[in-house]
Amino acid sequence: MTHEPYGADAGFETLAIHAGQEPDATTGAVVPPIYQVSTYAQDGVGNLRNGYEYSRSANPTRTALQECLAALEDPAGAAAGTTTAMSFASGLAAEDTVLRTVLKPGDHVVVPDDAYGGTYRLVSKVAGPWGVEHTPARLTDLDAVAAAVQPGRTKIVWVETPTNPLLRVADIAAIAEVAHAAGAILVVDNTFASPYLQQPLLLGADVVVHSTTKYLGGHSDVVGGAVVTNDPELGERLAYHQNAMGAVSGPFDAWLTLRGIKTLGVRMDRHCANARAVAEVLRDSAKVSQVLYPGFEDHDGHHVAVKQMKDFGGMISFRHAGGEQAALDFCARTRVFTLGESLGGVESLVEHPGRMTHASVAGSELEVPADLVRLSVGIETVDDLVADVVQALG
Ligand SMILES: Cc1ncc(COP(=O)(O)O)c(C=O)c1O
Repeated sequence: MTHEPYGADAGFETLAIHAGQEPDATTGAVVPPIYQVSTYAQDGVGNLRNGYEYSRSANPTRTALQECLAALEDPAGAAAGTTTAMSFASGLAAEDTVLRTVLKPGDHVVVPDDAYGGTYRLVSKVAGPWGVEHTPARLTDLDAVAAAVQPGRTKIVWVETPTNPLLRVADIAAIAEVAHAAGAILVVDNTFASPYLQQPLLLGADVVVHSTTKYLGGHSDVVGGAVVTNDPELGERLAYHQNAMGAVSGPFDAWLTLRGIKTLGVRMDRHCANARAVAEVLRDSAKVSQVLYPGFEDHDGHHVAVKQMKDFGGMISFRHAGGEQAALDFCARTRVFTLGESLGGVESLVEHPGRMTHASVAGSELEVPADLVRLSVGIETVDDLVADVVQALG
């Protein structure tokens, strides 16, 4: 009997290191090789070796990443072959593929009233002109979500939790019921939590999307996206569109993402611990009017976060009591926190959402406060992070 350390009952870290990544059959290489190749020799017309034909359709390095992602989001479903994952060139390419697989002109989507600006731009400015309508809803208010849903017309309820950048927490299981009752599917953007902290498919979601650029990749060296579903029929349609639309990840990007995933568990533990320490310092400062961090008991999504997340993540936003200029000055003064977009890497980042990641939602219902600062707390020495925040507050 073969010993399979990566079976469905294996722990998260074991799956992260082994799922989809058996030693190479020819050489025993313990890490999947980078199959930097576009096409594959066929043993006769239509007689493919292990299904590989052309790298847009399938590539062994990408296959390894996809199998690993499916196992992390839903170990039992992945082992049974009912849960599948697809890897893309970016998070937005993954989201676009979901939208164009599920929707047609005339359909309607419920979107969060706080979300990554690029997601809202994709739905409103790209899908909108093709005839897809959307309604923003406050995801923390189930009645608001139910009121936004149009039974028969709404095909997707789109959830981000925790949200970017206001760290609101949506109750995935409860929203799944609302979506399903109206005949819609529930898509959860799991980028902020990562599958280590939260597994939406196990809570009732139909599809998970990721910007793997963030915690999954984890080292700010690769852009990528993923879609995972536990609905086999939808999985087939998504896989068809992945190939037909073609926004796949290249082999080296897939390899870098897999390499990052191996340490996801230990990185997330440190991200969470460091974020808590930084959040506490911010809460103690008179220069800060509000700290948005789901780990605090007085955060209005705390009890839901406790129910559906293993820990509270590495993201914090705060409102500077001194207003917009003071928020901008804070961003200019940090030394360990690097001023930059993105999040989820080992290095700490600071940004001003209103002028940076969320500039595209200015003037919309998703506009963010001008005094808001967002921190992606990295895994540097916690004392250095705390000292940096204290000196930047001045
Ligand atoms: C929550 C969230 N979803 C999706 C995306 C889009 O991903 P990408 O930048 O990889 O296209 C981002 C990017 O910042 C994000 O923060």
